[in-house]
Amino acid sequence: MTTSRALIIAVDGPAASGKGTIAARLARTYGLPHLDTGLLYRAVGLGVLDAGGDLDDAAAAEAVARSLDVSLLSDETRLTTGEAGEAASRIAGYPGVRAALLKLQQDFAGQAGGAVLDGRDIGTVIAPDAVAKLFVTATPETRATRRWKQLTARGDAIAYEDMLADIVRRDERDAGRGAAPMVQAEDAVLLDTTDLDIEAAFDAARRIVEAARANHGL
Ligand code: DC
Repeated sequence: MTTSRALIIAVDGPAASGKGTIAARLARTYGLPHLDTGLLYRAVGLGVLDAGGDLDDAAAAEAVARSLDVSLLSDETRLTTGEAGEAASRIAGYPGVRAALLKLQQDFAGQAGGAVLDGRDIGTVIAPDAVAKLFVTATPETRATRRWKQLTARGDAIAYEDMLADIVRRDERDAGRGAAPMVQAEDAVLLDTTDLDIEAAFDAARRIVEAARANHGL
């Protein structure tokens, strides 16, 4: 007897690599629910700041993560600021915070029909059995330019050099931490979007997913 496997798609990679847009489009294409797991860490970081807490205080961040107010997740404008990204990256290194957010993410991944999740540790920790795993990347300069355009288009004042420094610092912190560091899973396919526009990047991502589905007889 064969049991059909749910289509779980794991999309990992550094900030502004295009992974979020690719994940959202894959979800639409395959009719799957999508979770941007970075929003969870961003909500925890902002939760600590809103409570007047200190991002260096692991226990305070863990307490916020344990009682995460999911209604915060709908405030996309605030969650996507540079401040929220920086706060997220700082609290994401605490093992207690990661443990507190684990079940929610694994429950999401375990939905009957499958799911698409994007983040840093989806293919390695959250859904190691995912059918398709992508690690989406691009040079720091390309990523900084993309993020800078996004933020300035909506009126946030930030210099390109500061954006690039932020990106490099976050990469180092996310890849260098002891708890679930950002790393390409052994069985993930690398997708470098440096020279690709979003259409070309999405086409490449869909081909990777189609190959993985065929491999799994899905
Ligand atoms: O993907 P993002 O830029 O929204 O993520 C913000 C921060 O959250 C990122 O710098 C590291 C952390 N993060 C993480 O540690 N693990 C995830 N699965 C997703 C995000």
